[in-house]
Amino acid sequence: MTPLIVLVGPMGVGKSTVGHLLAEHLGVGYRDTDDDIVAGTGRSIAEIFVDDGEPAFRALEKQAVRTALAEHEGVLALGGGAVLDAGTRALLAGQRVVYLSMDVEEAVRRTGLGAARPLLAVNPRKQWRELMEARRPLYEETATVVVATDGRTPEEVTRSTLDAL
Ligand code: S3P
Repeated sequence: MTPLIVLVGPMGVGKSTVGHLLAEHLGVGYRDTDDDIVAGTGRSIAEIFVDDGEPAFRALEKQAVRTALAEHEGVLALGGGAVLDAGTRALLAGQRVVYLSMDVEEAVRRTGLGAARPLLAVNPRKQWRELMEARRPLYEETATVVVATDGRTPEEVTRSTLDAL
């Protein structure tokens, strides 16, 4: 089994919203590795980050991605930082990976300057810029399709994604 579509992209880009819309259009299920980690550990993502640190989270995430790729046939959304791990990126080789992209200004508009996500706890615009610069090449390396979301509604992004497949 393998997912029809794997969604990657920064936090706040709309992976979950667009993922649900895609799943609905395609008549398949939606799955999210962040949700799998929370369900599997009984802890929140923030707790895991704070108590165990990011490397421990990335290891759990890699395992969650491996399991979901083996089990899920529908739309699979990954956490925004999943591509940071080389092992996770290797798991995605051969998959149909859609990178939902947004620029820094769109990110600031959508998430504000201090969202409830661990990596945005202290997040001025500069931090978003650094995060995007570090991750963009990894998203691009991993993706088979790139769909820009700037200034577009989830429905428009969903339509472009379906057209691009
Ligand atoms: C993270 C993004 C989050 C979650 C965790 C780390 C990141 O997922 O996995 O907080 O490093 O960008 P979303 O992209 O679903 O918010």
